[in-house]
Amino acid sequence: MKSEGAEGQSRPSIGTCGQTADTGSLDSGSTTDSSTTSTSVTIRVARFTPRQARPGRTASNPFAATSSPFGARPGRPRGKRWTQEYKVHTSPEQTILDCLLQIKREQDPTLNFRYSCGHGMCGSDAVLVNSTPTLLCTATIGDHAKAPAQGTDEGADSSQGFRRTGQARDANPEPRQNTEAVRTGWLGIIEIKPLPGFTPLRDLIVDTDTMFEQIRRFHPYLRDGAGPESETENLQTPAQLSKFELLSNCIACGICEGSCPVYAGGEAFAGPAALIAASRFINDSRDQHRQERLDDINQEDGILACESVRACSRPCPKGIDVGEEMWRLVEAVNR
Ligand code: SF4
Ligand code: FES
Repeated sequence: MKSEGAEGQSRPSIGTCGQTADTGSLDSGSTTDSSTTSTSVTIRVARFTPRQARPGRTASNPFAATSSPFGARPGRPRGKRWTQEYKVHTSPEQTILDCLLQIKREQDPTLNFRYSCGHGMCGSDAVLVNSTPTLLCTATIGDHAKAPAQGTDEGADSSQGFRRTGQARDANPEPRQNTEAVRTGWLGIIEIKPLPGFTPLRDLIVDTDTMFEQIRRFHPYLRDGAGPESETENLQTPAQLSKFELLSNCIACGICEGSCPVYAGGEAFAGPAALIAASRFINDSRDQHRQERLDDINQEDGILACESVRACSRPCPKGIDVGEEMWRLVEAVNR
């Protein structure tokens, strides 16, 4: 798994590019190879550099909360936070990951993000794109760039938000094109933030250890009693396979966890990704520990903590209806 940008790497001087203390703006301009592309996009990244721990100093706030009714939660790490904009010459079919790699190569080597396979298989690059949890490598510029409406600030769409009493909202408002943006080939803005529910480590990289610990807690491997040396085949019918086949496609990207309002990376809820991993083996006819597995998830921080909000269903990149699976687990433990 690659994490672009090494911990502790010093930030080079950005010089005359117009960066302010809280908002930076960089433009690759016509000096890069990509300038031959006629369309461009503005990538706005929420950046974070953690504060280095001072040797010999420990947190000693006498007013700090020592316990929470919601279980232990990771604190908000201290450090410098700012928003940085990059203008990238690209085309609508490129992915956001392509753009970030281009930024890294051509504009700012200090930008940190994580990726590995580059085609939706490893789950390492989940972030928040325009407030929706998404994989960087499958999200295209064309699908996510928000062109600003003419006469409004940036990407703000005046058709959104509050309306006055008595004003009916147009069910299908005509998108107002910014003609200047269209003429210059500017596709719009894409906002990228780290995945919520996880402790940010640096820029777009978050700490996923808690999620993997919760997945491991439910024994995510087959326990069929035969052992790996068994020479007999453990056959299944297509109907038996169909009960867990889709669940076995889970790539542990954490997108469902980042969408879940109950999960916050703490100890109050094991999280939907861990429960999907448990469900995959609960539904496997070859596993001989089904009841034990159901008992494992039938805990206050297990399936009982799920509030059936179902925010986790829609964004799963593998097409798993996570909310529906949570509901099936509730039914299974109550049977
Ligand atoms: S269930 Fe879907 S969204 Fe959740 S971790 Fe697995 S692949 Fe990602
Ligand atoms: S880089 Fe592997 S899923 Fe995106």
